[in-house]
Amino acid sequence: MYCLSLRNELMLPVIGLGTWQITDRVIVSDIIGAAYDLGYRLIDTAAAYSNEIAISKAIVTNEINRNDLFLSDKAWNTSRGFEPVQEACKKSLKKLKTDYLDLYLIHWPASKKLYPYWAEINADTWRGMEQLYKDGYVKAIGVCNFKEHHLKKLQETATIIPMVNQFEIHPGMGQKKLVDFCKELNIIVEASSPLGNGQILTNDTIHCIAKKKNKTPAQICLRWEFQQGIISIPKTVNADRLRQNISIFDFELTEDEMRIIDEIPFCGGIGIDSDEVTQFG
Ligand code: A2P
Repeated sequence: MYCLSLRNELMLPVIGLGTWQITDRVIVSDIIGAAYDLGYRLIDTAAAYSNEIAISKAIVTNEINRNDLFLSDKAWNTSRGFEPVQEACKKSLKKLKTDYLDLYLIHWPASKKLYPYWAEINADTWRGMEQLYKDGYVKAIGVCNFKEHHLKKLQETATIIPMVNQFEIHPGMGQKKLVDFCKELNIIVEASSPLGNGQILTNDTIHCIAKKKNKTPAQICLRWEFQQGIISIPKTVNADRLRQNISIFDFELTEDEMRIIDEIPFCGGIGIDSDEVTQFG
C-alpha cells in the first residue's frame, strides 16, 4: 500500500476504510476482516459514528494485531476545549481498547454562525490536541472541515500546525484552493466522502472515462484523488466494492482526463459548509 508521510514522518496509507454509517457489529467485523485481508490498514472512525466498540471487537475477532493498523478517530463537537477534548480522546481509547491512536482529528471547527468566539474555541481545543500528542496518546493530530480562515487563525496560536485536514473532496467538489493552501502548509489532505457519498458514481463523464479505462466509476474517482496526492477513505459494506476501491494502482489518468474530471460541476455529495453548519452545534 502506498503511503504519504506526515510532517512527523508517520506514514499514512493513501486508501483507508471509511466507517461512517456502519454500526452493526457483525457488519463492522466482517468488513474490517475483509478489508485487512485485502491490504487496508487505515481505519477511519469518529466518536460520532458510534462504532468504536464494534471496531475494537472486530480487531479481536479477526485476530488483527493492533500495531498493524492505522487507527484514525475524531473528537465530536460536544468535546471542544482544552480539557474536554483530552477527556474525549481517553474515552475513545477505552472504547477502542487501545492505548494510542495513530491520528486524532477535530471533527468540525466551531461554527461562526453559533459562536462569536469560534476562533478562541478552536485554539483552545487545539491546545488540548497538542497536549494529547505531547503525552503520547496520539501519534499525529489534525482537523476536519477547516477552511483557510480557520487554519490561518489557528496558526496564530498553535505550536504544532495540524498534520492532516480531512474534508469533502470528490469530482464535482474538488476544493482546489483549500487543497493548495493545505499543501503550502505541509498539511496532508484527506478526502471524506471521496465518492460523493455514492452520488457521483452515475455521472456521465465519470462513466465515460471508466468505460474507456476498463475501470469502475469509483476507481476513477479514487485514482483522481490519488493523483493529486490526496488520501481517500471510501466507505463500503460490500466485499466486491472494497476490493475495487483499493485496486487503483495499476492504471493512470492522463492530464486531459484529470482536467476533464476537475471541470465536472457539483453533481452530488454531502456539501456541508462548516461556517454555516448549525445542526451539529
Ligand atoms: P455500499 O456501502 O453499499 O457499498 P463515500 O465514501 O463517498 O461516502 O461513498 C460511500 C457510498 O458509496 C456508500 O453508499 C457505498 O455503498 C457506495 N460505494 C462505495 N464503494 C463503491 C463502489 N466501488 N461502487 C459503487 N458504490 C460504492
